[in-house]
Amino acid sequence: MIRLLYVSQAASGITEEQVKDILKSAQRQNPTTGLTGVLVHGGGLFMQVLEGPEQAVLRQYVKIMDDRRHSDCQILHISPANDRIFEKWSMGIIQSDPMQFQHIAELRARRLEAVLTKTFTETMREFARTLLLGSNLPLQ
Ligand SMILES: Cc1cc2nc3c(=O)[nH]c(=O)nc-3n(C[C@H](O)[C@H](O)[C@H](O)COP(=O)(O)O)c2cc1C
Repeated sequence: MIRLLYVSQAASGITEEQVKDILKSAQRQNPTTGLTGVLVHGGGLFMQVLEGPEQAVLRQYVKIMDDRRHSDCQILHISPANDRIFEKWSMGIIQSDPMQFQHIAELRARRLEAVLTKTFTETMREFARTLLLGSNLPLQ
């Protein structure tokens, strides 16, 4: 298994309805490919964690890269994974608040540096905690 984290620029003028559609197709398809993860949306950006079998994650990522609802996908982190952080979510959603996105933007700016795996893993665990707390209103 691997875990991949990327960030992208949401298409300008993307609507809540379109984000809902993305979430719905992810939740429909991911169980069949063995993927789990979270989609974070806010501040004109998407950030997504995809975890699952290596081939499944990479295949889905290639498809996602071609999706016109966003652009400029950049992998921030990819690593082997022994367990899932998002096992409960075929695709969770976090409508991020500005503070969280500040943090994400910082990670993004540092993408070319050797950012510690730990930093990313902690960020992803934070996302999982946010999902568990249910403090973000899901789009469903
Ligand atoms: C930011 C973003 C995240 C996405 N995440 C997923 C996902 O986790 N799973 C998925 O199946 N499709 C996801 N999609 C949709 C895919 O790009 C694509 O539309 C979908 O895989 C449909 O593929 P199909 O033509 O094979 O049915 C995402 C799209 C965007 C823009």
